[in-house]
Amino acid sequence: MNIAILASGRGSNFEAIVRAVKRKKLKGAKVKLLITDRKDAYVRIRAKKLGVKDIFVDPKKFKTREGFDREVVNILNREGIELVILAGFMRILTPYFVKKFKNRILNIHPALLPAFKGTDAIERAYNYGVKVTGVTIHFVDEKVDYGPIIMQKALEIKERESLEELEERIHRLEHKMYPEAISLFIKGKLKIRGRHVKII
Ligand code: GAR
Repeated sequence: MNIAILASGRGSNFEAIVRAVKRKKLKGAKVKLLITDRKDAYVRIRAKKLGVKDIFVDPKKFKTREGFDREVVNILNREGIELVILAGFMRILTPYFVKKFKNRILNIHPALLPAFKGTDAIERAYNYGVKVTGVTIHFVDEKVDYGPIIMQKALEIKERESLEELEERIHRLEHKMYPEAISLFIKGKLKIRGRHVKII
């Protein structure tokens, strides 16, 4: 299955997925390309090192968000992409994009949705004083951080844990969970029924 990863930043999830493929933990998966919306994103350096084709799509070249998404969809189609993985891609997909890849876009969020949607979720959860937070992987639909949930894992925040320590633990959990969820998708084990995702 040809996969494209869309990312805007550091790219630690991108790297975890590519390494899982290299270690044969994701049988049948090929990470064909990385698409970024930021020219200077560190994830691009990781892509070079790992030998993954990387395409920068400049948002400034498009008048509308849909214009940008149309260009991305054209690239995905040209490359024969069957599964789209959002890994810290800091743009909201337009309904055009979501329709074109219906039920074939996954996202990871560093909190237990529906809590702490949006950006800086780890920090907001930490500052809110929650005792439990975690990671969510879900299908992407038209609403932000909303689509049917595939997998959630919780972490208890330790007494006197710093934000940096919590971030580190959340990221480690993400790197373990994302390949697992992708593997379930590839094996055809995820069945969507309304808001519910059954693992068969
Ligand atoms: C990850 O923690 C991911 O869950 C988060 O961005 C980070 C990207 O890190 N995504 C969101 O907050 C989406 N709402 P990475 O670039 O090192 O993979």
